[in-house]
Amino acid sequence: MIKMDKWAKELGVKFLKEVGVKKGDIIFDCCCGEGNYTIPAAKVASKNSMVYAMDMNKNKLDILKKKSSLENLKNIKIIEKEFVKVIPLPDESIDVILLYDIFWYFSIKDVKLLKLLGEVNRISKDNSLISVYPEHTDNTDKNKLKEIIKSYNFRFENEIFNTLIHDNSLKKDYIWNFRKM
Ligand SMILES: C[S@@+](CC[C@H](N)C(=O)[O-])C[C@H]1O[C@@H](n2cnc3c(N)ncnc32)[C@H](O)[C@@H]1O
Repeated sequence: MIKMDKWAKELGVKFLKEVGVKKGDIIFDCCCGEGNYTIPAAKVASKNSMVYAMDMNKNKLDILKKKSSLENLKNIKIIEKEFVKVIPLPDESIDVILLYDIFWYFSIKDVKLLKLLGEVNRISKDNSLISVYPEHTDNTDKNKLKEIIKSYNFRFENEIFNTLIHDNSLKKDYIWNFRKM
């Protein structure tokens, strides 16, 4: 177990900058959980920007609320919602979308994944960054997942091997970056 403040203050910020998140970006953290990526994203994007953090789990969102108020972050908007069909954000409004560690719930066999990708396409601006942590998909499914994402008009840009956080522990793993065409 790592000290979470070291992740939020230092390592997570470094990680997201290396992924390609920039100051001023409008970010959507899809299925954000307790906000392990939301908090550093808000720091990188900085105060004149916004991070929309959506999850269906109220307890996790309450933890995120506490963390963001402890850090005095004003640029996080929490959306408590179970994704079924719609992400409640306008068309072409987002610069960066994080799809981190969600594929246990959105498996490649589940039509919900296709609906989610359709919505990600709708809300993302041209050339926006779609960053994916494909945890909980085996190697065969990973290839299929990549092809499915590409089929939603997202060009595969690069793969980054970096220290990230998963289940509140640090590990080294791969992140995929895509660009909306
Ligand atoms: C493994 S956690 C990942 C959290 C975060 N993205 C991270 O990487 O630390 C997956 C999250 O997805 C949320 N989730 C799963 N299905 C969802 C849905 N249909 N709508 C909204 N949230 C969902 C769960 O509540 C959980 O918090």
